[in-house]
Amino acid sequence: MAKKTQSIKSKLPESSNGFRVLGDDVALASASLFSGGGIGDVGIEWGLGVPVIAACELVPSRAELIRRNFPDTQVLEGDIWKLANGYVSDVQKHLGGLRPWLLTLSPPCQGMSANGAGRISAAIRSGKRMPEDKRNRLVLPGIDVLEGLRPDWFLIENVRRMENTVIRNEKGEPENILKLIGRRLQPLGYTIRSSIVDFRRYGVPHHRERLITIGSRLPSIVQEIPPLSDFFSKELSGLHPRPSHGGPDLPSPVTLREAVGHLPQLDSLSQPIDSKDAYHRVPSWNESQYYWMSNTSEGKTAFDNHDCVYCKTEGHAPEVVFCRSCQKPLPKPTISKNGTTRLVRGFRTSYRRMTWDKPASTITMNSGVISSDMKGHPDQNRVLSLREILILSTLDHPSWNRAYQFEGVRHGRSQPGLNFSPRLVREVVGESIPPLGMSYIIQHLADLDGRLK
Ligand SMILES: C[S@@+](CC[C@H](N)C(=O)[O-])C[C@H]1O[C@@H](n2cnc3c(N)ncnc32)[C@H](O)[C@@H]1O
Repeated sequence: MAKKTQSIKSKLPESSNGFRVLGDDVALASASLFSGGGIGDVGIEWGLGVPVIAACELVPSRAELIRRNFPDTQVLEGDIWKLANGYVSDVQKHLGGLRPWLLTLSPPCQGMSANGAGRISAAIRSGKRMPEDKRNRLVLPGIDVLEGLRPDWFLIENVRRMENTVIRNEKGEPENILKLIGRRLQPLGYTIRSSIVDFRRYGVPHHRERLITIGSRLPSIVQEIPPLSDFFSKELSGLHPRPSHGGPDLPSPVTLREAVGHLPQLDSLSQPIDSKDAYHRVPSWNESQYYWMSNTSEGKTAFDNHDCVYCKTEGHAPEVVFCRSCQKPLPKPTISKNGTTRLVRGFRTSYRRMTWDKPASTITMNSGVISSDMKGHPDQNRVLSLREILILSTLDHPSWNRAYQFEGVRHGRSQPGLNFSPRLVREVVGESIPPLGMSYIIQHLADLDGRLK
């Protein structure tokens, strides 16, 4: 766990409205945009004691999660395109005219794709209408907010392929997102670095690689790490913390077994819920899914089940779905339609089990769906439970002195007898910044900053 700035900040002078003040005009406060359920913010406020004073989120159930878990945070619910100006003035008012120390932004990433960047640029230039994923342009109001608030530090989190994404900029011209960020923010005095961060290397027990773009306009930082026209690097920059795990002289990344191996067994047909923990629950599988996966071993996919489990005839070809000797179905994912049965079309990462002695695979919004990428438990017949993904995401972690509350927030159809939504848990956890990783990164910024000592 990162060191706490909580005790440190108490030495800083206090403003009339109760914020700790850095320099002449900066409050030791953070704000977030595209805040989701505020899970990354847990690492900042609960982990480091830096108050997250404002958040902005489109989806009402997620905004409600922030309100419940961060009662002092001002939550703007709605579309950032409409709320950006109000967000800036609210934060300025709240801080009594001071600037915030930090702004974090995690614009949605589903739309980011490196594919066809050249084609997209050419189409935009020639005035053709290209199918455009609007979500990619959400970085624009994010930059407007950064320009309005001018925090000492900012952090933008996104999928790693953002580095190659071209969007239509504010002038309607094609521009690479990182170039756009540099063009707009470097003239305001920011030095910026973008690096790929592997969260397993900060003690997070699941695979999560993200592009983390960090900017600072503190003169001492700008002098030490000067602005560059191309600030992307696959390697960690000086603005990114050194890893705590994985590498020479460092402990190995935390494995699935170390993180959740102690939890009671579950089974997607006979025992999908632990009677003592409502969060240790999994969705039920149908009998076919159960047959395919119960014959699949740790780390393997059911697509590779080429041997008959009935008569033991071995080595069927990949597309063969019935045993050539006894005609019984092989335990491979199949679909039956109009009297024929064929292999499910899918990636070989689906219907796959994880491995106990490695970190878990990436936790996504589909963590409960076995047909999605690598979602099977290593040796029990089920996907990971909600409790397991909470632990693996580090939202359920001993570093926080409290439990995150999902109770009472409705999302979609409610389940009888259940006061939280399993779907909401899987969605917000699947999109989150692991708070332990966030805590490490922001602690590093506090250390570089120097004024929080
Ligand atoms: C990657 S998630 C953020 C996760 C968050 N950082 C966390 O750690 O929990 C991106 C969020 O942006 C929100 N979002 C998408 N479009 C938006 C918009 N137009 N205005 C405001 N928020 C939006 C999504 O609902 C989603 O919750």
